[in-house]
Amino acid sequence: MSKLFRKKTIDQILKEGAVDGHGSGLARTLGARDLIAFGIAAIIGAGIFSTIGGACAKGGPGVIFLFIFTGIACSFAAFAYAEFASRVPVSGSAYTYSYVAFGELFAWIIGWALIMEYAIGNIVVAVSWSSYFNSMLDGSFGWHVPYWLSYDYFTAQNGFNAVNAMLAKGTSLQEMATNDVLGMKAALQQWTAWNTAPMIGSIRLIFNLPALIIIGIITWLVYRGMKESKLATNIMVGIKLVVVLMVIVVGVNYINGDNYSNFMPNGMSGVLAGVSGVFFAYIGFDAISTTAEECKDPQRDLPKGILYSILICTILYILIALVLTGMMHYKALDTPDPLSTVFKEYPSLFWLQRIVEISAVVALASVLLVFQMGQPRIWLAMSRDGLLPKKFSNIHPRFKTPGFATIVTGFVVAVPTLFLPSSTVENLCSIGTLFAFILVCAGVLKFGKPVKEPGKFRTPYVNARYVMPVIFVFVVVLLTTNAISEESHVWFNDFITFTSDNWMDRIPMVLFFLVFVISTVLAVTKSYSLIPLLGMISCFYMMAQIAFSHWIGFIIWLIAGLLIYFLYSRNNSRLNDIV
Ligand code: ALA
Repeated sequence: MSKLFRKKTIDQILKEGAVDGHGSGLARTLGARDLIAFGIAAIIGAGIFSTIGGACAKGGPGVIFLFIFTGIACSFAAFAYAEFASRVPVSGSAYTYSYVAFGELFAWIIGWALIMEYAIGNIVVAVSWSSYFNSMLDGSFGWHVPYWLSYDYFTAQNGFNAVNAMLAKGTSLQEMATNDVLGMKAALQQWTAWNTAPMIGSIRLIFNLPALIIIGIITWLVYRGMKESKLATNIMVGIKLVVVLMVIVVGVNYINGDNYSNFMPNGMSGVLAGVSGVFFAYIGFDAISTTAEECKDPQRDLPKGILYSILICTILYILIALVLTGMMHYKALDTPDPLSTVFKEYPSLFWLQRIVEISAVVALASVLLVFQMGQPRIWLAMSRDGLLPKKFSNIHPRFKTPGFATIVTGFVVAVPTLFLPSSTVENLCSIGTLFAFILVCAGVLKFGKPVKEPGKFRTPYVNARYVMPVIFVFVVVLLTTNAISEESHVWFNDFITFTSDNWMDRIPMVLFFLVFVISTVLAVTKSYSLIPLLGMISCFYMMAQIAFSHWIGFIIWLIAGLLIYFLYSRNNSRLNDIV
């Protein structure tokens, strides 16, 4: 039993880094400014270019509250990542941190969950890239890839069913194509894909060809050792920031105040329904911690890089959500390329639409590159620890890259792209990443009240004992009485609205309350640090907003991971030779 929780000490990890050469061999060139740029490079991607559209369509302009909440929750988690990055300044990120805090089993679980963040998350980015690529072709040359080669099978089927349901209600195709408020434009393309797809026997041939091609190209580049240089990263960040700022600055002049008249058309529950799309937009700040061995002063600069990049992105996200929902009716934003769609109505702004599309194609490719490089490196760390077969740490003799792990990553991203709808993937990615954040926050709690060491980052300590009971009582009062006003009581209840009447869908929220109660009790009895505790609770809350069907997918994923651990990894762990 104790074997499962055997830990690596920080000293051991630092020493291994030096011995294996993956610590001492890397040049320490990154400063705080480079890290902020790297953070923005990893954060701004499909979230702001694509998934924001679905979140706006569900929540309306009120989605900005979700951006604020998610930004705060991610900042709590960012403190935990920053502290770990400062304590254990080696690459490996959450996987390595868990090895220190909780031992081998949890390290494995986190390493396994991170596949959801890096590899599965990249599917969403590839699909988003494909949408902008198609818009670019359409806008610049009046041509697009046939729809049956632009969607995955199930998305096309869902769109086909949605359009048929509208037809049955008497809405014509013409109305669906021209009435933005119906939000059916993407569904119409999917309907066309379904109707025009070639058949093999009784199966329709439908898949996302541009997404597959870009995954292939990026995998090949990463395999060949195409390293994103500091300069390339900075140029990419420049492009993304300029485009996002241009959309904000130009778009603000086209805001129609009427679009704000109903700020939360579907109430708070509509806003919260966009959780996974909004959270997806923030994922990536944690990837900064994987550069620990390449920082000039990781203990000082990594926390700065992580926290400033989140702050900058939160501000940009709020502004862009306000501009998008101000320019267009919220329902019309339900498209995979909302940043270019908002300009379609304005012929004088076609130039900006083209710029957005071309920049998105370039910028999203850079996000793909960051994550496609991150995944094999996590496997490499796990393989060095003996938890994955040796092949995963094989370094290509000529290209000096983890060749085998890179090719496997390519397949893990490409194959599900053929059949998994982007929305399902987005939910799985968000659950997996939130789970990792929760464990990293919990890991910081285990360190207890930090002892200040000069030059090292420690999460500011506030004793949760004095705060959590107040929050707890406040929540209970607001939920159980209408002490303030009937209206605010109803509004507050929306925060815990169960996503459906199905009892299974209630499980995540019930679990959240359990965690909330236990955390409050532990805060009082153990004087936990407030920031990581709030990080844990807020990330769990976001997880609880994701439908239980996606939880089941994630649980199955974890069970598969545990099987591999018990059948292979445990027996091959390098710690078997040491402990
Ligand atoms: N935050 C990253 C993106 O939006 C994952 O693409």
